Amino acid sequence: MKKIEEYVRSIPDFPEEGIIFRDITSVLQDADGLHLAIDSMQALLDGVDFDVVVGAESRGFVFGTPIAYNLHKPFVLVRKKGKLPCETVSRSYDLEYGTAEIEMHKDSIKPGQRVVLVDDLIATGGTIEAAAKLVEELGGKVVKIIFLMELAGLKGRERLKDYDVASVIRYDGK
Ligand code: PRP
Ligand code: MG
Repeated sequence: MKKIEEYVRSIPDFPEEGIIFRDITSVLQDADGLHLAIDSMQALLDGVDFDVVVGAESRGFVFGTPIAYNLHKPFVLVRKKGKLPCETVSRSYDLEYGTAEIEMHKDSIKPGQRVVLVDDLIATGGTIEAAAKLVEELGGKVVKIIFLMELAGLKGRERLKDYDVASVIRYDGK
């Protein structure tokens, strides 16, 4: 059986020189790759007691929803600004150039709920840190954060040092 690393396509110098882009489309486009990715991420939740899965737009939706479905938990969307129709809480975070903003519906997390955060990738950790803060603003407790891939060179884990973080694959560079 192939390992998950073998399904990830690595593209040098994308989106800019010196960056190796770790592409998940090649994982998802293969039925075995898709199964392996979801099953491997789900295994990171063995023994974790939680109520709800929260995924970050957009790649976090791809991995978060099947995990929530398999484990019969609700799925909550963290969306980029301006997409959610009801009352929201929002948070800005830094990108390499400029800032971005994400939002959650105010009623999406009930106070005291135990939350698992899901995304495809941790780079600087800015996206998921902002998502975690939103969950906390709504009264939720982040009990675990899981990723398919981790770019360890960007030190996102240091930013998330207050949380229980796990990833399936780790790359040492950026
Ligand atoms: C990418 C990736 C993570 C985030 C990781 O999302 O899917 O969500 O960046 O980077 P960070 O750890 O430095 O925050 P992107 O914002 O490119 O959008 P997408 O998921 O909609 O493709
Ligand atoms: Mg993303």
